[in-house]
Amino acid sequence: MIHCESRAEILGIRSKQVGTVGVVPTMGALHQGHAALIESSMASCDQTWVSVFVNPTQFAPHEDFNRYPRQLKKDLAFCQSLGVDVVVTPSEATMYPNGDIVAKYIPPLELSQIMCGKTRPHFFNGVCNVVERLFAMVQPTHAFFGNKDLQQRVIIERMVHDLGSGIEVVGVPIVRNEAGLALSSRNAYLSEDGHRLASYISMVLHDSASHVRQSSWSSHSVRQFVAAELEGRGLKGDYVEIFRPIYGECVSGEINPGDHCCVAFYCDNVRLIDNIQLI
Ligand code: PAF
Repeated sequence: MIHCESRAEILGIRSKQVGTVGVVPTMGALHQGHAALIESSMASCDQTWVSVFVNPTQFAPHEDFNRYPRQLKKDLAFCQSLGVDVVVTPSEATMYPNGDIVAKYIPPLELSQIMCGKTRPHFFNGVCNVVERLFAMVQPTHAFFGNKDLQQRVIIERMVHDLGSGIEVVGVPIVRNEAGLALSSRNAYLSEDGHRLASYISMVLHDSASHVRQSSWSSHSVRQFVAAELEGRGLKGDYVEIFRPIYGECVSGEINPGDHCCVAFYCDNVRLIDNIQLI
């Protein structure tokens, strides 16, 4: 496995490679959710690259940039054990030379300011900023993103389309622990009780999908049910929305095939997101 940090090293290694290159962009603290992304890339691409970079531009000043888990040694060993070809760990100066953080691509407001964008209005601008820079350096043919961050995946797909980069964006199914909690590096912040409480999120989402499939529940009923069930158990709601990924819109009324219920809830003051395809 090659480990490289500087722009020159990255470009040099990339220029020698032929065939398809899949990239898995990450902020490190790798877990089995990342393993699924890596395995998906390895199954369909000749080369698999993983990037580890805790991106400052997607955090607001009051957010957890400083305490975000950093464990590079472990992450490198994890990638090695999975058979990753190249791990890229750029510094801030490599990603944002001369402190230039101006984004070349700003995602459409109607996509970036709904759901997670309401509480984190800066977030998707920062994600597109770093992912566009990473794509320009690594020049992947494919890029792998987890469906847990569904809005992020849809926004990256839009960016790739708008910029005409020709990269195939692949969404990978959510990986959950035995209690159903969607894996996330931020789960490390949860207490034991928090873990137990947080596992209700997937349970309630699952129940809501059953109601839609069996009783044709409307968007309104799903949103009310999910919010009431989770708040009743002590989780604090940020949003519950019905999201239609092909249009990148939150919808009301009848639920269509492909619609997802997307949620963000606070547990132990940790903001957790999850989603389920309803039908
Ligand atoms: O999903 C993440 O871990 C990050 O948002 C990403 C895509 C690596 C960009 O920093």
